[in-house]
Amino acid sequence: MGRKEKLQVLHVVSEVVPFLTTGGMGQVAGALTHKLAENYPNTDIRVITPFYAHFRDKYEPQMTFLGETEVSLAWRTLYCGIYEMKLKGVTFYFIDNRHYFDRDNAYGYFDDGERFAYFSKAVFSVIELVGFRPSIIHAHDWQTALVIIYLKTHFNEAYKATRTIFTIHNMEYQGKYIPGTLHDIFDLRDNDLSLVEYEDCINLMKGALVCSDKVTTVSPSYAREIQTSCGYGLERIIRENAYKLIGIINGIDTELYNPATDPLLKKKYSAQSPGGKASAKKRLQGLFNLPKSPRKMLICVVSRLVSHKGIDLITYILDDLLNLDIQFLLLGTGDHNYELFFEDKAVLHPGKVAVSIAFNPDIAGLIYAGADVLLMPSRSEPCGLSQMIACRYGTIPIVRKTGGLGDTIKDCRAGEGNGFVFDDYNAWSLLDTIQHALDLFAHHPDDWNNLIAEAMGCDFSWDISAREYLRLYEELEG
Ligand code: GLC
Repeated sequence: MGRKEKLQVLHVVSEVVPFLTTGGMGQVAGALTHKLAENYPNTDIRVITPFYAHFRDKYEPQMTFLGETEVSLAWRTLYCGIYEMKLKGVTFYFIDNRHYFDRDNAYGYFDDGERFAYFSKAVFSVIELVGFRPSIIHAHDWQTALVIIYLKTHFNEAYKATRTIFTIHNMEYQGKYIPGTLHDIFDLRDNDLSLVEYEDCINLMKGALVCSDKVTTVSPSYAREIQTSCGYGLERIIRENAYKLIGIINGIDTELYNPATDPLLKKKYSAQSPGGKASAKKRLQGLFNLPKSPRKMLICVVSRLVSHKGIDLITYILDDLLNLDIQFLLLGTGDHNYELFFEDKAVLHPGKVAVSIAFNPDIAGLIYAGADVLLMPSRSEPCGLSQMIACRYGTIPIVRKTGGLGDTIKDCRAGEGNGFVFDDYNAWSLLDTIQHALDLFAHHPDDWNNLIAEAMGCDFSWDISAREYLRLYEELEG
């Protein structure tokens, strides 16, 4: 880069590791910003996120209080404390307002719209207070869509030189509200309505799609799919804005997810010395009261138990699957009917089926290492991170060809591959694919081991995708 000044990029996101993550977005925001700062010293990467109660005790002692200001949101004047912390080359700002963020969960409240409208408005107060004028504002998902909308509706003059990027992590959650919220909750005016109105609702994601300079989503396939399906009703808007849409595949944090150093593992391993994987499997079987037999294929699911993850396919074939010589292990929470279904199966088939209805990243880590196979038969999947983590730990993913799953996993039956891929959203296709995997596992151990080596050798680091984001920033900055 020949520039004199650093490229200043501000990410605005409602969750970010290591502070808080409830899903993939927080992991992506943390890993991407770290990688940008690490690989490109000529960038100044900063992140704004809410100061949730979840990490107050752990991180407040390491933060600096920068000051307080007021944020106006329609008729409200609201407190805004600003804290700062630097971590691995990235500057983080935390917006403090206990009324909005001192809650048990990050999301799921009746006033989420107001909470994230406040947060989005507060971003501009932080920028003023700290005197950082970003060239690029990069917002993620509906919770921060309003930052991009406000930039057009409230701050257009002052931010003429600032360009915006909106990243879609999941089209399913759009921030939809009744039209009556326009003024009092979202602090928008009548003539702003056309920006955010869609199908008789206020739709914040739609507003960001329209107002942003660039839209990205988390895989090239998903960028195509959301123009015709998987767009949860916004397909037309996506098509109208396709000229500024680009799909950039997510990476994973390969330092964090590394079987050679992972503190969760008692015996570390790598592609060159894979012995520790067998111990991880044994330990996992022990933890879930499954017989510790190395020759039984251990098939695992780590997922939110919701329909677009393809859980109904698994429920449909589970009895047939259990006729095979395998063990089945599931970790996840979600729809109550699915939870009950799997709990019942565990009761009916002790020693063959084990189920933990929980969200537990540590147990998930043990599963990624100890399983033979990870099932991800999603109906739609913007990117998916688990299939990449599984590969890194030598666990073979069986995925449906959709979104990022098809972009990251190649079917080994078609030549070189790092997993198994099926096309149709059909339970029998899933079962057939599992049978192929079982055949390879049980009867062709050398081929299976080669497949493990292939999977572990894949480069899912952020290096390539971080470069693509950088290119986009530079293009926007002109
Ligand atoms: C969302 C998507 C997931 C993606 C993640 C990170 O959680 O559902 O597919 O990997 O965001 O972008």
